[in-house]
Amino acid sequence: MRFLTVLVTLSVVSCEASHLLLPKKSSTDDFSNAIIAILRRHFVSNHASTMITQSAKVDTYTEYLQIDILDRILLRTSGEIAYVFSTPIRPRRPRFFNILLFDGYLAFRSILRQLHPNKYDFSGYYLLILTAPRPVFNRTIQQMFIDLWSYNIVNVVLAASSIVGSKSPEGTQLFTYFPYVEHHCEHAHPVLLYNLTPSTKLDKSVNLFPPKLSNFHGCPIRIAAIDYPPYTMIEWIGGRRRLRGIEGDMLNMISSELNFTYEVVEMTGDDRWGQIYGNGTFTGAIKLVVEGSVNMSTGCFSMRGERMSVMRSSASYYTIKMMFAVPPGRPYTAFEKMFRPFSAVTWMMVTLYTLAGAGVILVLQFYPWSVRNFVYGRSTGMAFMNFMNIFFGGAMSRTPGRNFARALLFLWLLQCFVMRTLYQGSLFEYLQQSKNFSHVDSLKRIEAEKMPYIMSQGNIMFVRDISSIRKR
Ligand SMILES: *[C@@H]1O[C@H](CO)[C@@H](O)[C@H](O)[C@H]1NC(C)=O
Ligand SMILES: *[C@@H]1O[C@H](CO)[C@@H](O)[C@H](O)[C@H]1NC(C)=O
Ligand SMILES: *[C@@H]1O[C@H](CO)[C@@H](O)[C@H](O)[C@H]1NC(C)=O
Ligand SMILES: *[C@@H]1O[C@H](CO)[C@@H](O)[C@H](O)[C@H]1NC(C)=O
Repeated sequence: MRFLTVLVTLSVVSCEASHLLLPKKSSTDDFSNAIIAILRRHFVSNHASTMITQSAKVDTYTEYLQIDILDRILLRTSGEIAYVFSTPIRPRRPRFFNILLFDGYLAFRSILRQLHPNKYDFSGYYLLILTAPRPVFNRTIQQMFIDLWSYNIVNVVLAASSIVGSKSPEGTQLFTYFPYVEHHCEHAHPVLLYNLTPSTKLDKSVNLFPPKLSNFHGCPIRIAAIDYPPYTMIEWIGGRRRLRGIEGDMLNMISSELNFTYEVVEMTGDDRWGQIYGNGTFTGAIKLVVEGSVNMSTGCFSMRGERMSVMRSSASYYTIKMMFAVPPGRPYTAFEKMFRPFSAVTWMMVTLYTLAGAGVILVLQFYPWSVRNFVYGRSTGMAFMNFMNIFFGGAMSRTPGRNFARALLFLWLLQCFVMRTLYQGSLFEYLQQSKNFSHVDSLKRIEAEKMPYIMSQGNIMFVRDISSIRKR
C-alpha cells in the first residue's frame, strides 16, 4: 500500500513537471549558476546585507522552485554575502542590495506593494529573478520596467530563462532598461544585456549595472521653485523662467553636467513651501512633489522630520543656529541684596558663635554673682544687651574692671570689627556689579524656569520632536 502511494506521488510530480517549461530539472542548476555569477560579481559587500523578497502566485510548484534556487544560492554564496529575508519589521536603514523572486506579473505586483522607502533603497541594486512556469512576453517585462520606473528604480537586472521568441531557450537572459536614451525620455523598453548559456561564463567586460542617469539626453525635469533670495531666485530669460542664486546656480551646473533641461513651476502665496497635515493632505510645493506633478523642489527647504518622511533631500549645505530670545534675569530683592555679600557657610558660622555667646550668658544666669562678676566685670549692666550691642557696633558706656572680663570683651570687639569690615567691603563690591540674576542660557534652564515658548508656525515644526518642548 505504501509502495503504491509513493508510486502515485511520483507519477503526479512527473506529470506536473512535464508541462512546465522552466526550469527543466537540469536547467535549474544552470539558472542558479547564472544568478550566483551575478551575485558574486556585484553583490559582495563587507558592510551591507542583501535582502531577499519572494512571492509566488501561480502555484506551489513555482514556490518550491524558488526555494530550490534560493537553497542553491545560499549554499554557495553565504560565505561571501550576508542575506536577510524581507519581514514587515522596518530595518535600521533601507537595503541597497535586493533580490526579488517572483513567478509572474501578479507576484511582481504584490512585491511592488511592499516597496516602501523605509525598507528598500530605491537607488540600490535590484536583481529580479523570474521563475515563470511558461514563457513570458516582452510586453510583460516592459510593463514591469514601467512599474519600476514609477518608483525610480533603475539599477535592475531581470534574469529569466524563458522568453517568448528567445533564440536559445536553455540560456538565461539578463534584461534591464535605460530610461533616458537618445530621442527618448523615460523609456522602459527591455534591453537584453547578456545571454548566459551553460557553456559561457559571465563576461568580465559586461557591466550589469551601468550608470543610467549620467546623461538625461536633454529630457525635461519639472521643478517647483520658490523665489527666496539669495538661495533661489527666479528670472525670466528668453521667455523662460531660469533659476539663479546659490541653489539656482548649482542646479544650472548639474543640468549641464547631466544634460537635462528644466521647467520651473513658480510657487506663490503664503503657503509656498507647503504643509504636511496629519490627515494625509499636503499643500504648496510639497503637494506637487508628493503628487508627482513636479520632480523636485528648490527654495531653501530646510530638512525636518515630517518633510523627510515624504521627500528625500539633497545633501545639506548650510546650517544655522536656532536662537531663543529670553528675558533678562529678574532683579534682586532688597533682602537678597542684604544677604548676598556672605555665603551661606559664613552666615552659618556667624549665627553659630553668636548663639554660643548667648548660650554662655544663659548658663551663667544659674551661677552665683561672684562667678558672673568674674566673667562680666563688676556693675556693667545687662550682659546680653551689651553682647548684642557690640555685635552691631554700638558703644559700651561702662567698661568692666577685671582683667579676664576685659580680655573677653576685647576678643569679642575684635571679632565683630573684623566681620563687619568684611561685610561692608563685600557689600560695596557687590552693589557695583549687576543688579540682576544672570539670564537663562540653556534649554534646560528654560525648562526649569517654566517659560512659555512663543514661536512662528514654521519654527514650531523644527522643535516638535523635542519632547520637553512638545508638552507645552
Ligand atoms: C524580445 O526582446 C528581446 C530583447 O530586446 C529581443 O531580442 C526579442 O526579439 C524580443 N522578442 C519579441 C517576440 O519581440
Ligand atoms: C545632450 O542631449 C542632447 C539631446 O539628446 C544630445 O544631442 C547631446 O549630444 C547630449 N550632450 C551630451 C554631452 O551628451
Ligand atoms: C486635513 O486637515 C487640514 C487642516 O487641519 C484641513 O484643512 C483639510 O481639509 C483636512 N483634509 C481632509 C481630507 O480631511
Ligand atoms: C517628472 O514629472 C513628470 C510629471 O510632471 C512625470 O511624468 C515624470 O515621470 C517625472 N520624471 C521622473 C524622473 O520622475
